[in-house]
Amino acid sequence: MSALTDTFRMANGVEIPKIGFGTWQITDGPSAYDSVRTALEAGYRHIDTALAYGNEESVGRAVRDSGVDRDELFITTKLPAEIKDAARAREAFERSSKGLDLGHVDLYLIHAPWPWNAIGSDHRAGNIEVWKVFEELLDAGRTRSIGVSNFEVDDLESLLAATDVVPHANQIRWFVGHTQPETTAFSKEHDILVEGYSPLATGELLDDREIAAIAERLGRSIAQVSIRYLLEKDVLPLPKSTTPSRIRENADVDFTLSGEDLAELDGLSRD
Ligand code: A2P
Repeated sequence: MSALTDTFRMANGVEIPKIGFGTWQITDGPSAYDSVRTALEAGYRHIDTALAYGNEESVGRAVRDSGVDRDELFITTKLPAEIKDAARAREAFERSSKGLDLGHVDLYLIHAPWPWNAIGSDHRAGNIEVWKVFEELLDAGRTRSIGVSNFEVDDLESLLAATDVVPHANQIRWFVGHTQPETTAFSKEHDILVEGYSPLATGELLDDREIAAIAERLGRSIAQVSIRYLLEKDVLPLPKSTTPSRIRENADVDFTLSGEDLAELDGLSRD
């Protein structure tokens, strides 16, 4: 399936497979191990994890056991949102690197501009401090690209004003009816790849009557239409599932949405 092997090219020239397998909320141990093995067998070549997910060891082991060449794979992990100083950022990267045990990382992200227990609080100085560590890790080849997650326009502007490397990617919550237009447009203007997490709104789109009508017309599932929508918008979807048939279904999205379908989906609001 070409959607699994086609790539977006980030501003630094690094190619990233257009669909990533998300592992948020997939518990460590057999659940994470088995779902990543299934995803790799289904042809996914891009896996997204985070230190905060607590599943890096299972993800890494599943990747190593899969026998897929490391060079064919793209692995993303993230610095916990609570860490906003250089010393702890270096330490956290080493923990992720050791946990994954896959050599380099392909994309390292600041998980959020603020700690989860203080959403919206001002950590501009801390984000700049940890970004300098990210630039060192990039220079040292420990990660092939660096980016951010959950950053809005203000967060991006203050980082861009004070640092050298423009983030290669911004991973944000993005699905039909919740498309973060300002952040998406700003990111694209600065050649920052937009990645969409929760492309199914953590499952809430799956009984959406309006998307269901389009899916029925196309002979596709709601999940497939929702995931395809991101690709049509040049946003990289990170669907997740622990169910083998759904893991495969979510990658079977080599079809196009017509201008009419897109206009209908663009008109939905699911905030
Ligand atoms: P499960 O893991 O039990 O298969 P999102 O990617 O937006 O976070 O959504 C993930 C949620 O959607 C999970 O609860 C997952 O359930 C469910 N899910 C993922 N893919 C599908 C699918 N193709 N059909 C139905 N449910 C799905």
